[in-house]
Amino acid sequence: MDSLTSDDLMNTFKRMFSRGLILGLLVLFCSFAGSAQVAAETIAVIGTGNVGGALGPQFAKLGHDVIYGSREPEREDVQALVSSSSGNAAAMLPVEAAAAADIVVIATKWADTEVALKSLGDLSGKIILDPTNAVRRDAAGIRYHDVETSTGEMIQGWAPDAMVVKAFNTLGSATMADPASAGGPMSIPIAGNDASAKARIASLVTGIGFEVVDMGDITAAHAIEQMLIVRGNAAVLGSPFNYYFRPVPQN
Ligand SMILES: NC(=O)c1ccc[n+]([C@@H]2O[C@H](COP(=O)([O-])OP(=O)(O)OC[C@H]3O[C@@H](n4cnc5c(N)ncnc54)[C@H](OP(=O)(O)O)[C@@H]3O)[C@@H](O)[C@H]2O)c1
Repeated sequence: MDSLTSDDLMNTFKRMFSRGLILGLLVLFCSFAGSAQVAAETIAVIGTGNVGGALGPQFAKLGHDVIYGSREPEREDVQALVSSSSGNAAAMLPVEAAAAADIVVIATKWADTEVALKSLGDLSGKIILDPTNAVRRDAAGIRYHDVETSTGEMIQGWAPDAMVVKAFNTLGSATMADPASAGGPMSIPIAGNDASAKARIASLVTGIGFEVVDMGDITAAHAIEQMLIVRGNAAVLGSPFNYYFRPVPQN
């Protein structure tokens, strides 16, 4: 193929301009930038431990109203978490927080998750963000996935009229709290049955500064939870890593 001269490029540019393509591209860019802005959500974060304490302040920083659902909302560490979260952050009992929210983050240990989830009242129509992992360790600290299907599918089964989205289970809470500490881009795999719910969770993932990879419906949570097992065992064996999926170049 002949190489392009600067005249060729200039002529191409002029042709594009005369057809209004540049204007079209500009309009497209502006509408994309507009749609990328995140609408304010009310997000209940159930559990004020490592994950709740990392994701809550991040979501608050994005301009969302974060309500921590704690069994002891007046506890000193819970009130400190509220104070460290910007905007209209508050703490109340889990059932009250969930009732007030569009999105419910279930940031509880797997062993407590069924009881915690079932204490939240009617979750119909709400999005449940599920970062949980069911992990068993052997004497050497090697991890095994500890449920037959996945925690994501089980949560969807316990709340059939809610829209469960698996996300944030494949990284440590310290990295959720400080994404820059990863030293580069990171991929967050997500899964769920409802496309619009996944899009809303995806905007939280990208808002914090991670890249999102849609793995499909909630049955994909099984594979995503295995990813945590792989990552955890690599760390135990001396090769800690974070997930980043380099896209295959498109020709
Ligand atoms: N730690 C990580 O780096 C990490 C990373 C990715 C995913 N995960 C997964 O995320 C989940 C949370 O892990 P974590 O490390 O944040 O656990 P954690 O530090 O133990 O925090 C769990 C929180 O759950 C709340 N809780 C406990 N029982 C409850 C109940 N019956 N009802 C309502 N809330 C209850 C407690 O908050 P209150 O005392 O305020 O009620 C507690 O602080 C786990 O499933 C874990 O596998 C963890």
